[in-house]
Parts: sequence; structure tokens; C-alpha cells
Amino acid sequence: MSEFVSVAEVASLLPGQGRTVNYRGKEYALYNVDGIFHAMDDACSHKGGPLGAGCLDGEKVYCPLHGWAFDIKTGICEARPDLPVRTYETRVEGDHVQIKIELS
Ligand code: FES
Repeated sequence: MSEFVSVAEVASLLPGQGRTVNYRGKEYALYNVDGIFHAMDDACSHKGGPLGAGCLDGEKVYCPLHGWAFDIKTGICEARPDLPVRTYETRVEGDHVQIKIELS
């Protein structure tokens, strides 16, 4: 079953910023691009680098470990399209950013 869950306060992530958030022990990368939030798995598909700490350039993020670039809307990696990361639907509910994830 998929559900929206709150992972951050809207005010905690300014436009142009990204960071790692945690929900029930799993880490997600969350970005704010011009007021629109995007989320994907935090672990880079190369060697697990923290994509939430990557360098954000528009709708692209560069992994902080070896620089692979990912489209934050699709999760597709420029260098290795066969190794995407999973993306998640987001929404703003009140003061909170929510992401839609599978709950068991
Ligand atoms: S761990 Fe991300 S590019 Fe190597």
C-alpha cells in the first residue's frame, strides 16, 4: 500500500537546495527546485553515495562521491541510463513536504 508521509518541513529546504531525509530508517534525497519538491532514493546507484548531499544544478544532481549526474525528476543517470535511482511522488500538505512510499 502506498501512502504519503511527511519527511520535512517546507521551510527547512529553500529553493536550489537538497538534503537527505529519513523515514523509518530509509534515506531519501529531497530537493527544492523553484518551489517544487522532488524526491528519490538517497543511495547512488554507483557505489551508494548520498545523493541528498550532491551538487544540485537545475533539475540535475551530481553525486558527491564520483560525480555521476542524475535527473531528479526521472532518476535516470546520464552516464549509466541502465542504473537509475527510484523517484517518488511528492506533495506539500500544510507546512510539510510529503513523499509517496510503499508501507508494509
Ligand atoms: S557513488 Fe555516486 S557516482 Fe560513485
